[in-house]
Amino acid sequence: MPAPLISVVRWCCVHDQSSPLHMWWSSETVAVLPNALKELGLSVDYHQLDVLDSLSIKKLAEWIEQTYGGIDVLVNNAGVNYNLGADNSVEHAQNVVATNYYGTKNVSQALIPLMRPSAVGARIVNVSSRLGRLNGRRNRLEDKDLREKLANLETLSEELIDRMVSTFLQQVEEGTYTSGGWPQMFTDYSVSKLAVNAFTRLMAKMLSDRPDGQKIYINCYCPGWVKTAMTGWAGNISAEDGADTGVWLALLQDQAITGKFFAERREINF
Ligand SMILES: NC(=O)c1ccc[n+]([C@@H]2O[C@H](COP(=O)([O-])OP(=O)(O)OC[C@H]3O[C@@H](n4cnc5c(N)ncnc54)[C@H](OP(=O)(O)O)[C@@H]3O)[C@@H](O)[C@H]2O)c1
Repeated sequence: MPAPLISVVRWCCVHDQSSPLHMWWSSETVAVLPNALKELGLSVDYHQLDVLDSLSIKKLAEWIEQTYGGIDVLVNNAGVNYNLGADNSVEHAQNVVATNYYGTKNVSQALIPLMRPSAVGARIVNVSSRLGRLNGRRNRLEDKDLREKLANLETLSEELIDRMVSTFLQQVEEGTYTSGGWPQMFTDYSVSKLAVNAFTRLMAKMLSDRPDGQKIYINCYCPGWVKTAMTGWAGNISAEDGADTGVWLALLQDQAITGKFFAERREINF
């Protein structure tokens, strides 16, 4: 019997019960779901989590440790977007960056110490977006020097990512961000997911020297344009299909993939 899997997710990993992806999902599996979703018929436990609130993150970590002793899989799914057109506000930009980037970072840093040793390695999956691509043909940072520093693992650092988002927020406050060379589409959201992607690669590097048996693999993925509240239910795929690559990444058993970006179960460029 595989070890119980304790995952902090907000989307439910409900998918084809006959799929080999179910190999980790046993009768002992426990999914820890912030807030709601009580009707699943799976072994599900619940705990409050507000990724904007450091005390809430701390309480969740303490509860997981006391209740389950550790965690095998973390899916950072919490996200917000307020960008619809060209309009923007300081409050929205701050909230998007705080939730999408700092929320992902702070939850990861609080729960990594609880990730349990295992032969197959613990997993972190960050739900991101193609809008945050570093070198996409459209919607990328204009600052070539910053792009290169973010792309290069020798120069990528937490300080560099934090400085990028704080420079962006400062320009939003000053009203100068539109000429600041930031991604043109869904700018707040794109900057926040650019930071999530960079953080994923950085964490993969930082975690890479863990010994066998204590490995943690961290990847990010774009779910596509999904019919959820975020898109006003206007996406072109269901939430289940949007979750597919995330579930696949979380449950891959025999491939030590880390620090990569995926969509539709295929690696894509950052
Ligand atoms: N939908 C798309 O087309 C699309 C495309 C690319 C990437 N994504 C990413 O996919 C992820 C899920 O988004 P979605 O489409 O499912 O949007 P959604 O329906 O708006 O769901 C967002 C989720 O984030 C949670 N959340 C927001 N702020 C939070 C906070 N401070 N603390 C804890 N949880 C918080 C919400 O919880 P409550 O319900 O409790 O508020 C909700 O469950 C996000 O990271 C999003 O950026 C979505």
